[in-house]
Amino acid sequence: MHKSKEKFGMDYSTFKTDVSKRRRSATTRELTKIAYSASKNVVSLAEGMPNEETFPFTEISIKLNDGSSFTLSERELGAALQYIPTQGYPPLLQCLREFQRRAHAPPLWESRDIVIVSGAQDGLSKTLEAIIGPGDPLLVHDPFYPGVEVVVAPHQAELIAIPQDEQGVVPEILRETLRSRQLSGKRMPKIMYINATGSNPNGVVIPLERRKEIYRIACEYNFLILDDDPYHFMHFEDVEPKSFLSLDTEGRVIRVDSFSKVISSGIRLGFITAAAPLIVSIELHLQSSHLHAPTLSQVILYKLLKVWGYDGLMSHFMGIRYFYKRRRDIIATLARKHLNGLADFTEPKGGFFLWIKVQGITDTWKMIMQRGVKEGVIMAPGAAFMKDPSKPCNAIRASFAKASYQEMDLALQRLAELIRGRKNEGISTRPFEDIVYIKRRFWGPLQRMHRYGRSYEWPHFRERDFGEKPVHFRSPYPGIIGVSSATLRATIDQQIRFADNMLKAS
Ligand SMILES: Cc1ncc(COP(=O)(O)O)c(C=O)c1O
Repeated sequence: MHKSKEKFGMDYSTFKTDVSKRRRSATTRELTKIAYSASKNVVSLAEGMPNEETFPFTEISIKLNDGSSFTLSERELGAALQYIPTQGYPPLLQCLREFQRRAHAPPLWESRDIVIVSGAQDGLSKTLEAIIGPGDPLLVHDPFYPGVEVVVAPHQAELIAIPQDEQGVVPEILRETLRSRQLSGKRMPKIMYINATGSNPNGVVIPLERRKEIYRIACEYNFLILDDDPYHFMHFEDVEPKSFLSLDTEGRVIRVDSFSKVISSGIRLGFITAAAPLIVSIELHLQSSHLHAPTLSQVILYKLLKVWGYDGLMSHFMGIRYFYKRRRDIIATLARKHLNGLADFTEPKGGFFLWIKVQGITDTWKMIMQRGVKEGVIMAPGAAFMKDPSKPCNAIRASFAKASYQEMDLALQRLAELIRGRKNEGISTRPFEDIVYIKRRFWGPLQRMHRYGRSYEWPHFRERDFGEKPVHFRSPYPGIIGVSSATLRATIDQQIRFADNMLKAS
């Protein structure tokens, strides 16, 4: 239920895009909300709900890894298989409100609300699309989670990237950037994206004093803070990080939580906590997209939270923390063993990732995307997390979340070999694989396209470029083009000779 009383002295309409302001609620969705909260003696013929009797499921039971189990009651099963109000499954909503209040103690709680979304990514895109219109500026920290860029790029948003040090966003640079923008009369940002705890990709946890300073700057320059915090309970610090939500006296924090890392990513659930008028905008957007996050997932999560209670959930988080901290310690030890003298890194303070900066190399893209795959190691090239991914970046992101210790050992050993190889040889001369066909007349466009991006998937070319007179061309790297234009040209020439010889021989 949305709160009608607005206690924050903010005019949220100034932050919203015109598209967001034009959104209206669907009557059918409103009716579902009304029917859900109506008393039992009300008969509703209003909704388009299918009859559950026609559904093939009769029971859903879940076993937990602590040996306990639960079964959805008939009523819960009925609800789990049905449409629900867009904001979320009401019992789960209530449960999450209580959780949020207890975990973060946000000031002026009665002026905020939550909405359940299909994971943090859904929450980020709905939030950003409510606020970022064509060409709007968005503050981010560099590097940052690329799921943000893919949302705002189609809106041609201007990314204002604020550099980080080992403690995250540098407030002095943030303030100075805003000050000089204001002085030069440029459009001021309405929102800043922050991933404050166990940041993806660099594992930073922003210390409290810095969070406070960033919040002060947000108040000073009147922007919202979008705190994407899926690793909040997965930090490796002694002191619990204080969330931006808990500091938010003015109602400018939009907090995105996710169950992906702590319960299951396949369950696709997360939730947004923000001032009620912002939640309404996000809910209206949800009404026009997937109506609501999956009910079955919501009911299962609700049952789990009921079985565990707040303390049970917190002790689950503690277990997760210990689990990943141990993995962090192991990858840090392995990195010291294999990358000594080749790369630098800081021990991640939370999250899943080790951010490695390779010495003596300006860009890791080709090394990782081309040679890495062939040498049996895949990591994420650092440029993928930068404001401008086409610029060289000497970093690499390695996940310590899932691989076995032996696999991590092998991966870092292979990375070390790659770095040494890269330093000694320059470009890879590994044998080619994967025959694809490219019409001669597409070589030019192919090369031109190559200049605008770093890699293209072969199926893209196959579809568009497969010709009647194909030239046999072997890609140096399965599935990927990532060589420079000159190298590509040389490779093509070499492959024409190869193909000609092959054809002559056949
Ligand atoms: C910082 C960050 N935000 C959002 C997401 C998306 O998470 P979800 O699975 O909840 O959509 C991820 C996933 O890796 C992430 O690292």
